[in-house]
Amino acid sequence: MTARVLITGASRGIGAATALAFAGQGARVALADLRQPDATAAGAREAGAAEVLAIACDVSDAAAVTSLRDATKAAWGGLDVLVHCAGIIHEAPLLETPVADFDRVIAVNLRGSFLIGQAALGLMKPDAASPPRVILIASDMAYYGRETFSPYVASKHGVLGLVRSWAKEFAPGILVNAICPGPIDTEMLGAAQMSAEWRAKELAIPLGRFGRPEEIASVATFLAGDGGRFFTGQGIGPNGGSIMP
Ligand SMILES: NC(=O)c1ccc[n+]([C@@H]2O[C@H](COP(=O)([O-])OP(=O)(O)OC[C@H]3O[C@@H](n4cnc5c(N)ncnc54)[C@H](O)[C@@H]3O)[C@@H](O)[C@H]2O)c1
Repeated sequence: MTARVLITGASRGIGAATALAFAGQGARVALADLRQPDATAAGAREAGAAEVLAIACDVSDAAAVTSLRDATKAAWGGLDVLVHCAGIIHEAPLLETPVADFDRVIAVNLRGSFLIGQAALGLMKPDAASPPRVILIASDMAYYGRETFSPYVASKHGVLGLVRSWAKEFAPGILVNAICPGPIDTEMLGAAQMSAEWRAKELAIPLGRFGRPEEIASVATFLAGDGGRFFTGQGIGPNGGSIMP
């Protein structure tokens, strides 16, 4: 059967690259983002997707995620793969961080992961012989602390906690993993989001460059494929050597 794949954060960056990678394998892809990801949808059709759904969904909004789940179920009856890429970053010294900013980062990154993961797992049919896959994009910052990014760091530690718990709860019928990228060349690391000082620090990793979104997408297709059959509860680290846990 052609794989049914839900990808969030699909408008750009890692989510868009992941959508195109699965489309290139001929998958059926449901693409979600704050605004309907029409450009990625067009690219996915061109790349060879068997079917493309483009859906507007704020992943922090429980009602919106329920609608996304219902639309996916109505179209396909179930789901084989989730790659949850939607997320936001926030840089500010703690003493200059209003609680509303903390709440927003936690709402999108952690509550969003909970809601999307719960919706996807509810659509999946556990099957130890051919297990569906849940893949959440966390970060290398899921493993360590970083000054001026504490809400983001806390949210990504939380994502890893969800993954490890769900991996046990749904074994052996569904595999649940995180991808924990190092710095990737997307708008998230752009000047509008992060200081020049931090961008420079990010480049000081052993491989000396930012990763490309496609280098994360290829990890997602690996985890979703036959090669990923013995992975669950893991954080996979395409990170250029930023950390070596
Ligand atoms: N770029 C990096 O260096 C890096 C490193 C580690 C982890 N990550 C993680 O990878 C994921 C993707 O990041 P990216 O670099 O592609 O970022 P990006 O900013 O380029 O793309 C993020 C996408 O998520 C969408 N989004 C944001 N809030 C949303 C919401 N509430 N509901 C639905 N969609 C929403 C945005 O519209 C955007 O299309 C994020 O979870 C991020 O934390 C990124």
